[in-house]
Amino acid sequence: MTALARYYSIVDDDKAFAATARRPQPLFVWTNTLRTTSRQLVDVLTPDGYELTPLDWHPQAYRVSCQNGNGRLGNHWAYLAGWFHIQEASSMIPALLLDPQPGERVLDLCAAPGNKTALMAQALGNRGTVVANDVFWERIRPLRSAIDRLGLLNVSVTCHDGTAYPHTAGEFDCVLVDVPCSCEGTSRRFPGLLKRPPTRRISKRFRKQQLLLEAAIRRCRVGGRVLYSTCTYAPEENEAVVDAVLGEMSGTVRIQPVSLPGLKSAPGLTAWAGQSFQGDLRHTIRIWPHLNDTGGFYIALLEKIGGDSHKMSDPPEIAHMDFQTASGSTQQRLDDAARMFDILGERFGIDPSVFSDLQLLNKSRRDIYAVAADHRPPQMAKCISGLPLFHMHLQYPKLTTSCAAVFGRKAVRNLIDASPGQLQAYLARKSFTLKKDQALACDGSGYVLVRYHNAVLGVGFYDQNQDVVASLFPRSRAAM
Ligand SMILES: C[S@@+](CC[C@H](N)C(=O)[O-])C[C@H]1O[C@@H](n2cnc3c(N)ncnc32)[C@H](O)[C@@H]1O
Repeated sequence: MTALARYYSIVDDDKAFAATARRPQPLFVWTNTLRTTSRQLVDVLTPDGYELTPLDWHPQAYRVSCQNGNGRLGNHWAYLAGWFHIQEASSMIPALLLDPQPGERVLDLCAAPGNKTALMAQALGNRGTVVANDVFWERIRPLRSAIDRLGLLNVSVTCHDGTAYPHTAGEFDCVLVDVPCSCEGTSRRFPGLLKRPPTRRISKRFRKQQLLLEAAIRRCRVGGRVLYSTCTYAPEENEAVVDAVLGEMSGTVRIQPVSLPGLKSAPGLTAWAGQSFQGDLRHTIRIWPHLNDTGGFYIALLEKIGGDSHKMSDPPEIAHMDFQTASGSTQQRLDDAARMFDILGERFGIDPSVFSDLQLLNKSRRDIYAVAADHRPPQMAKCISGLPLFHMHLQYPKLTTSCAAVFGRKAVRNLIDASPGQLQAYLARKSFTLKKDQALACDGSGYVLVRYHNAVLGVGFYDQNQDVVASLFPRSRAAM
């Protein structure tokens, strides 16, 4: 039996399913509405040869096709400026169905590389709390980069085994548990997956998936929502896991029907391979690739209706300027931070009131971080909250690219409106010469902000003697 034939008996149209699952996948993006509007995004990408078609079920998300093979979308300046995020369309659905509301505290238990975290944090308007956890630090790096690039001030990142996620993280109103799985639904991106025999692909992860879902339920408050998802078709990793947990935690959770206007889906199974599942599993959904021309997904939304929620008091609020006091140099760091705010005020004319709605943290002793004023991070070791504003460990404290991109929009001077050529040089970390009018607009040597199409991309250093700006765009993001 071929890998896909295993599912012909449970799919509505086996030919369309098999054909779509073997076709390369379209590219999808969503607009970062914290930075721009969908209209502006379409206006900047269209002249560069990209055609954007809105998704029926998410007006800020688009299918993108490239007319002239115009390079990688991830190298486009609008991507580097955090105007949009690239994410497979079916993978957006869990975050949209969980639909966290302002004021709700959200946990993403298996979060890396952070696509769903980013979508939820953005939907919350950069306020409140999203805690993104993953068991592997190395997978957290891309998650952190996405947070920085998109300018998210409401995310804390933790690294912990999700099956034993600690109580000290506090209670959550919504928990997303997007478990590791055999990933059959990603065959359009990774066709090699279909070449392996089904029995090897269908993981023996059932127990781990069950433990992760149970841990998610424990961390959720009574009355809250837990969303279980996979990107696989295998009922062993989908309905069977949810069915087992409903049995184990009877009276604690119940299935909530879900739908997204404009999205086509199929009901979850109530039987497979001689095993029957609870009838309510028909309210979970299967996204077959041919239904919306996407990847494949499985989604179950649960409401917590009882049981032990391990209630604990809310984590304490972070004090404004919560600098660690263990080191003798606390005063020095406070002075350095104050100097950085002076630079932002004097050099760029940024009104200090833009920082009044933030909490500032210096947990790492290297960088000063900012989080939304109402952000409530978990009280856990290995927790990184918010965005780095200033690197303090260098000989001269440095303004970060994230800080420039988020707050540079309020700058009124020492802003360079780059030409296309200057932009290209800046993003490739090369120095570029200023035109006369650009040089006249700078107050002597010092930091400048580099802007293109109203997007501040980052920081440069202007040397007045040479009329040259050295690019300080981070190596990790540079367009090579
Ligand atoms: C399907 S991926 C998550 C994708 C992510 N939600 C997104 O949208 O970008 C599953 C993740 O679970 C993580 N994982 C595996 N075992 C885990 C555990 N015991 N606790 C927490 N995370 C785990 C993996 O490292 C992997 O990043």
